[in-house]
Amino acid sequence: MAGQITAKVFRYDPDTDRAPYFKEYKVRADEEMSVLVLLDRIQKEIDPTLSFRAYCCGLQMCRSCLMKINGRKRFACVTLVSPGEEMVIEPVSYPDRHVRDLVVETDDEGAGK
Ligand code: FES
Repeated sequence: MAGQITAKVFRYDPDTDRAPYFKEYKVRADEEMSVLVLLDRIQKEIDPTLSFRAYCCGLQMCRSCLMKINGRKRFACVTLVSPGEEMVIEPVSYPDRHVRDLVVETDDEGAGK
C-alpha cells in the first residue's frame, strides 16, 4: 500500500544561505527503506540541491553517513524508516566541521588543518 515518509532535513549552505533552516520533504514510499536511500530519493526526485555523503559501504565502517536522526547519532545506511513515519535529519555536528546541509568534514579531511 502506498504511503509517504515525511522528512524534515537540515539545510544550510554558508555560501548562499543567511541562516540554517529545516526543509520538509514528503516522499512516496511503498516499503521500508534506509534513511540513506530516502535522502537519495529526495535528491534525485525532489530536490537536487540537497547535499549529503552518498557513498554507501552499508556496513557502518566508512562512517560517511553518520548523522543525527530524530536527535540521535545514527548511521543512515542501516537506519530504517517506514511509510507513515516522520523524521528529523540533521548533520552529526553543527556548527563544528559543518560544510553544507548534511555534509560535515570527516576525520581524514580535518587532518593537518
Ligand atoms: S555508508 Fe558507510 S557507514 Fe554508512
